[in-house]
Amino acid sequence: MHIHAAILWEAGTPLSVESAELDGPGPGELLVELKAAGVCHSDLHPARGDWPAKTPLVLGHEGAGIVRDVGPSVSHVKVGDHVVLCWAPACGVCAPCLEGRAVLCDRVEKVTFRNKLPSGAARLHARGQDVAPFLGTACFSDFVIVPEAGAIPVPRDIPFDALATIGCAVITGVGAVTNAGQVPRGSRVAVIGAGGVGLNVIQGAVIAGCERIIAIDLRPKPLEIAKTFGATDTIDASVDVPPAVRALTAGRGVDFVFDTVGSPATLTLALACTRKGGAVVLTGLSRMDAQGSIAMFPFVMQEKRLLGSVYGSGQPARDIPHLVSLYQEGKLKLGELVSRTYALAGVNDALTALAASDGARGVITW
Ligand SMILES: NC(=O)c1ccc[n+]([C@@H]2O[C@H](COP(=O)([O-])OP(=O)(O)OC[C@H]3O[C@@H](n4cnc5c(N)ncnc54)[C@H](O)[C@@H]3O)[C@@H](O)[C@H]2O)c1
Ligand SMILES: [Zn+2]
Ligand SMILES: [Zn+2]
Repeated sequence: MHIHAAILWEAGTPLSVESAELDGPGPGELLVELKAAGVCHSDLHPARGDWPAKTPLVLGHEGAGIVRDVGPSVSHVKVGDHVVLCWAPACGVCAPCLEGRAVLCDRVEKVTFRNKLPSGAARLHARGQDVAPFLGTACFSDFVIVPEAGAIPVPRDIPFDALATIGCAVITGVGAVTNAGQVPRGSRVAVIGAGGVGLNVIQGAVIAGCERIIAIDLRPKPLEIAKTFGATDTIDASVDVPPAVRALTAGRGVDFVFDTVGSPATLTLALACTRKGGAVVLTGLSRMDAQGSIAMFPFVMQEKRLLGSVYGSGQPARDIPHLVSLYQEGKLKLGELVSRTYALAGVNDALTALAASDGARGVITW
């Protein structure tokens, strides 16, 4: 079928919104019509060339839409279902999957992270070439083909802009607190970076019953929004941050720091803001070749911990419906995460706004 998609032809150049041809779904695949797609910093990285990726490529990995067609042997999803896209479609049978660690699925690592569908098929074509789907999702496009496990059915009465960010920012941020950190009630936490993921760390910390939630960002707008999501305190990252964190925590430092920026400098800062026996949960991903350094002596003597966390460290097929329930119960803000909506033709403006840390999420709507 004939569609429009935002194609990255060369890293460092704007996406080109143009005509493309999409094949129908093969076995185990679905055709989804996109209704809303969040613009995540993980789209900006390949667009700018921070993460090397083969082009042409359609970016976008956080979205929601309606199933319009299903291929043979699809069993759990049917035409007309409203779905949230999931960029970690676990195989269910590899060792990490059997150990209950779906986000570490071997197939996701070998296939999805190489911007392929599990079937290996190239379903999207433009200018006579195959176009790769970023994270097997490619939702800066009118329609997408995804594997069945890459689409999680959700109730039909939820607005699509509210669903747009669940499939990356929300699950990553909330899961970093609840699954990776397993943060106990009454904890004191800090989050470095109050963008799409950071605001959801704050929401996760509110759900976990944290007593103190300190947001740290370089820009005033994200800090302003952080307060409306439940941050009890904010710190401008351009000041000397560790003493400011200690001043808010009876001189001790926080129990957990969530580094949603993921640069060598923010990792050092995160470790400095953590109390003795505390933990840093690292979700931010800067350049692919970034190397952080740790002052090893105090790390050992103060029994600090460092945890990596990808895609919320849980079971997306279980966690996405749970997040939707929290929203329905009024415990999770979703509509408030959408700072601005754009048509697909405005995708480059949305990426520019994200790079400027305009606050919360820009969302493409159809
Ligand atoms: N681990 C995962 O599974 C996962 C999932 C999604 C995104 N990510 C990564 O997480 C990172 C954040 O993504 P996002 O969509 O939230 O980005 P974003 O652009 O929405 O937010 C980043 C925020 O960090 C702030 N910031 C930047 N540098 C800072 C610094 N030195 N100190 C304090 N604040 C700083 C910015 O002002 C902005 O508010 C990206 O690297 C992205 O690739 C990881
Ligand atoms: Zn697996
Ligand atoms: Zn993302």
